[in-house]
Amino acid sequence: MKKILAFIFLFSLSLTVYAEDGYRLWLRYDKIDNANLLQQYRNKISSLKFTDTSAVLLSAKEELISGLQGLLDKKIAIQNNITEGTLLVGIFSDASIHSYISAKDSTKFGKEGFIIKSVKANQINIIVIAGNTDIGALYGCFHFLRMLQTHQSIEKLSVISFPSIQLRMLDHWDNLSRTVERGYAGMSIWNWQKLPGYIDKRYKDYARANASIGINGVVLNNVNANATILTKDYLIKVAALANVFRAYGIKVYLSARFSAPIEIGNLKTADPLDEQVRNFWKQKADEIYEYIPDFGGFLVKANSEGQPGPQNYNRTHADGANMLADALASHNGIVIWRAFVYSNSNEDRFKQAYNEFKPLDGKFRKNVLLQVKNGPIDFQPREPFHPLFGAMPQTPLMMEFQLTQEYLGFSTHLVYLAPLFKECLDADTYENGKGSAVAKIIDGTLEDHNITGMAGVANIGSDINWTGHPFAQANWYALGRLAWDHNLTSAEIADEWIRQTFTNDPRFVDTVKKIMLASREITVDYMTPLGLHHIMGYSHHYGPAPWYNKAERADWNPVYFHKADSVGIGFDRTSTGSNALSQYEPEVRNAFADIHTCDEKSLLWFHHVPWNYTLQSGRSLWNELCYKYYAGADSVEWMQTSWNALKGKIDDERFEQVKMLLNIQHNEALWWRNACVLYFQTFSGLSIPKGFEQPDKSLEYYESLQFPYAPGIGGNQ
Ligand code: GCU
Repeated sequence: MKKILAFIFLFSLSLTVYAEDGYRLWLRYDKIDNANLLQQYRNKISSLKFTDTSAVLLSAKEELISGLQGLLDKKIAIQNNITEGTLLVGIFSDASIHSYISAKDSTKFGKEGFIIKSVKANQINIIVIAGNTDIGALYGCFHFLRMLQTHQSIEKLSVISFPSIQLRMLDHWDNLSRTVERGYAGMSIWNWQKLPGYIDKRYKDYARANASIGINGVVLNNVNANATILTKDYLIKVAALANVFRAYGIKVYLSARFSAPIEIGNLKTADPLDEQVRNFWKQKADEIYEYIPDFGGFLVKANSEGQPGPQNYNRTHADGANMLADALASHNGIVIWRAFVYSNSNEDRFKQAYNEFKPLDGKFRKNVLLQVKNGPIDFQPREPFHPLFGAMPQTPLMMEFQLTQEYLGFSTHLVYLAPLFKECLDADTYENGKGSAVAKIIDGTLEDHNITGMAGVANIGSDINWTGHPFAQANWYALGRLAWDHNLTSAEIADEWIRQTFTNDPRFVDTVKKIMLASREITVDYMTPLGLHHIMGYSHHYGPAPWYNKAERADWNPVYFHKADSVGIGFDRTSTGSNALSQYEPEVRNAFADIHTCDEKSLLWFHHVPWNYTLQSGRSLWNELCYKYYAGADSVEWMQTSWNALKGKIDDERFEQVKMLLNIQHNEALWWRNACVLYFQTFSGLSIPKGFEQPDKSLEYYESLQFPYAPGIGGNQ
């Protein structure tokens, strides 16, 4: 009978054929397609023993069983004893783990890290996966599965890994109506109407994906927040999600609308120094923790782009943040206060967040982090690092990256963002002299902070493949991996993502890695080369509109940012201009300020450069600008040819999807190129250099385009 059951089981395993619709993300556990490797793995792994039955370890167990049985295509026994090939998983303090792992090793992997070790005792070879907590052990299990998925050797394992950043988060800009601000992958995955009764399978798969890359916090709702989420009806729904996420080590956070005391508390004011307002928040925090005992805290956008905040009452950002911090403190909750502020003033928008927040350094409570976007304007294809990094030593600064490609081609363009993230993390602020990289400020080592964080604005929606573009999954993946270990290179992250998501086929891995690593620079070239920024379509941000000049605020107009005229192009932010450069340390300031040493990739961020100025290439600025736009668009063709040559290496489904999207990307790259070159030509008065094809449409044509269907526009529903 046993034999028959085993046969039926194995038969059903081999029948498990998945649609390659991208739903499984990088957690694909199909049978290892390399016979030798498969044999090696099978020899090393035969059974599982777990030391504990906490909810988190049960998640780990479930994942390992499905992962190993899929990858090894064999039944894995769960047992209480240890035999040859047992995978022993648990918490270091458990006696059975203790005997295999030294106390010295256990101090190395901290609260959330793990060890994976091959050990031999009493002639029996086993593999131990352990953490000091069950969450550490869960991360270890995901890491182990990743090793198999990426075909690494498990002969003599000795891996110790731990996160460099504590709060590794996704910020969803999801509205209660299920629209997603700047979302290009469908509607919000949070089904508020059916919660809390109906728990969509997606919630668990979402948690699995996040845990597999170390993400341990999620903000569920848009920073342009609706206070309704803080009412009882919604808190019960939020609690249902938190219950799913908890078993994967993930805490829930909410964006809090500063004026909630008025909107849902029947108060006349939201003044942070008003006793009734303070009580409102205190009671609200107590209520939230009744429903969600491990609630993470609040994310707040205040006095920015029309959102209410403490300045409405002549109070400072610190007054506002501290009030909320006090309400959360007894529950160990935190406040993530955003530094993305700028007002309708004559001051260069670049400078405003620094001017606002630098004087507040040291004035925030211990449980407040200041969340700063990577650059000073707004998630552009290239920005210099934000001058607040290195300027607020007494305040823990949290990084805010954007995964959703608001300014990078929505979910239509293949743009791998790890190089953009790394460029910022690796930038040297010179805060404490050479070697003061942004990463060291974020991970707390440079300024000695004991609370640290990195967030990505999520690119996730209800699309079957979660992110719209199959390759946009890589940006979600990269955020988690970099928050875990910012020393990983973009290439390493791409490599492991490709192998898990598609195949280990060397030619495929190699070609796709090249495409991914080049993709961000290619996009910069066809959208905003040489330091141009913020020249996209007004409001919807779709496509180019460098000519746009009708916004209600000057600093929402592309012309404000490129400042093209008959002399040249670019924003003078040196001492002869807005002097934004004065916000950086002298070493950074001087390097950017001197037009000869300024990195040409950022040139027009800081200088108004004459059209005939000669660049390092020997070309004039005008010719170089054209050269970049044309090179960018041509390179998309290279991406297409490279991809098309991979037909047959992966499933047709995803192959065709990427092919179609690359086609659109190419058309849109041509659109960017033609529209921008034609428009800037009206100032330079120079012709497009010889050898470059003339745009086939007129500038008027590009200016007349309308996009009523552009997705993702903001709205505080
Ligand atoms: C950008 C984006 C808005 C968003 C804002 C923010 O300006 O276009 O939709 O609300 O960033 O980060 O708060």
